[in-house]
Amino acid sequence: MWARDTLARGGRDAPGRGEFGRRRARHWERRGRAVGRAMPVVMEAKALISSTEEWRALRSHVEAIDKTHLRDLIRDEARCDALALEYDGLYCDFARQRVTTETMEKLYDLARAAGVREKVNAMFNGEAINSTENRAVLHVATRAPKDKVINVDGRNVVPDVHDVLEKIKEFSERVRNGEWIGETGKPLKDVVAIGIGGSFLGPLFVHTALRTNPEAAVGASGRQLRFLANVDPVDVARSLNGLDPETTLVIVVSKTFTTAETMLNARTVRAWIRASLGENAVQKHMVAISTNLKLVKEFGIDPDNAFAFWDWVGGRYSVCSAVGMLPLSLQYGYDTMEKFLEGAWSMDQHFANAPFEENLPVTLGMLSVWNVSFLGCPARAILPYCQALAKLAPHIQQVAMESNGKGVAIDGTPLDYDTGEIDFGEPGTNGQHSFYQLIHQGRTIPCDFIGIVKSQQSVYLKGEIVSNHDELMCNFFAQADALAVGKSAVELRSENVPDALIPHKTFSGNRPSLSIMLPELNAYTTGQLLSLYEHRVAVQGFVWGINSFDQWGVELGKVLASRVRATMNDKRTKGETMSGGEGYNPSTTRLLNRYLAGKAK
Ligand code: F6P
Repeated sequence: MWARDTLARGGRDAPGRGEFGRRRARHWERRGRAVGRAMPVVMEAKALISSTEEWRALRSHVEAIDKTHLRDLIRDEARCDALALEYDGLYCDFARQRVTTETMEKLYDLARAAGVREKVNAMFNGEAINSTENRAVLHVATRAPKDKVINVDGRNVVPDVHDVLEKIKEFSERVRNGEWIGETGKPLKDVVAIGIGGSFLGPLFVHTALRTNPEAAVGASGRQLRFLANVDPVDVARSLNGLDPETTLVIVVSKTFTTAETMLNARTVRAWIRASLGENAVQKHMVAISTNLKLVKEFGIDPDNAFAFWDWVGGRYSVCSAVGMLPLSLQYGYDTMEKFLEGAWSMDQHFANAPFEENLPVTLGMLSVWNVSFLGCPARAILPYCQALAKLAPHIQQVAMESNGKGVAIDGTPLDYDTGEIDFGEPGTNGQHSFYQLIHQGRTIPCDFIGIVKSQQSVYLKGEIVSNHDELMCNFFAQADALAVGKSAVELRSENVPDALIPHKTFSGNRPSLSIMLPELNAYTTGQLLSLYEHRVAVQGFVWGINSFDQWGVELGKVLASRVRATMNDKRTKGETMSGGEGYNPSTTRLLNRYLAGKAK
């Protein structure tokens, strides 16, 4: 159907061509020598993607698309046939995107021009594509089957992954069957996972997805899993409320083991355990997940009770490592969580091997590039018609926005186009009664509708026309068409709508969305969905030519908070307020004084 992947065969527009490419290549060669690594393929930077013929072709193509309307496009059967993909039961219809088959060809050409195939290969081959941190990006290795070989710096990391998985399996089984007991001899039935950002959002998303899955729920019977992320004392109080330290296991989850909020919360909860069960109780009631085993030990957790992961797993991509696998195996059983890994790996394989034209993450990634960079849509709504996916949007918010919210290309060149989008979302139908007004008649926000064929739960009240799930899904189908087709003034007039109301009741339509359908929501399909979104984000970053795997943008706020922490401690110790000579601007000085004066010492 589409032109094939020419770059995979070493075709036109090979990276590094021309003087610009040669200069960049020299730069990366020097840098490679400086960090003692060979120059990764992906680092052979070229001019910004916006200077390519393929980008310009899409720019010009916008004019043609602007002459179309989804209300007409959606009636074309051949187009609808072409604009849908299915892989391993996951079905995606993108006929409601503002594209034609010609647009798709141009988008796949752009992907080739950006070297997406080479960059994907470099990622799966363990090259240090996170160049600012000189790290490989191998979350895919955390779900690789035992017999796979994935090398980082010449060493196969898959056995390490499986050693940790084996340890998780054994430990979670011992806790679940009561063999591992607490300080007072009681089994540990409740788990509190302390962590923030990537050490929280992914596990919360998966936990929320599985809670009402009948199979998973059986494994969770009599057990509770809670998360403590925010340093806000309110979150501390809520997450410990009603828990008994005697029957609680605490997991400190932190890649670095230095994150201020997590470490303060960990100390607070350690004090809660010690106060009730004595100093030694930490050994039985606290375990850790980290790449920094030295700090785990210093904290007082036995390194034997620590579950490792590696610097080649980014925090926001770590849900398949011990970060998600330990708390979720404790809650649902290891066997259930193994299926989650299998689902993610299935999508990984599809991403790595399928031609672009059949490739779900590549297609969805390219559609996002189209919406952001060519149609000028700055946001994306993630709208699962499934309450169990309530935490998908918050998780993808971090995955996408921390990855692709960048202002410079991978080689430091300032970009002349925006990257990333503002992700938000709520499950349907709740969102319909909240922000959909803006989506229908205000800004144009491409929407991801996600529907499930067979619900985790069945509720059908005798005498009703449809079951609860059917009612939910009626909205899933209707909303996508309402956005695409809209409602014209002519239609409104034919319904005798008064003239004065016609502008208010008109729906312009032509608002893009895509519809993803899963046969059911279980551990396996949750894994597929996770991997789909992760790789879609990577594709966008690969095309925009940025480093999607670092997050320097979160650093400045942390540094300034440390300074405020020192000032606050000083002022509280001395019982003083701010004089203005501390080096803060007048606004911050005033705000701090107001806080210091109001807070009980
Ligand atoms: O502040 C952002 C961040 O660095 C994320 O990237 C990360 O997921 C989170 O903090 C938590 O970090 P850690 O797991 O090291 O505690």
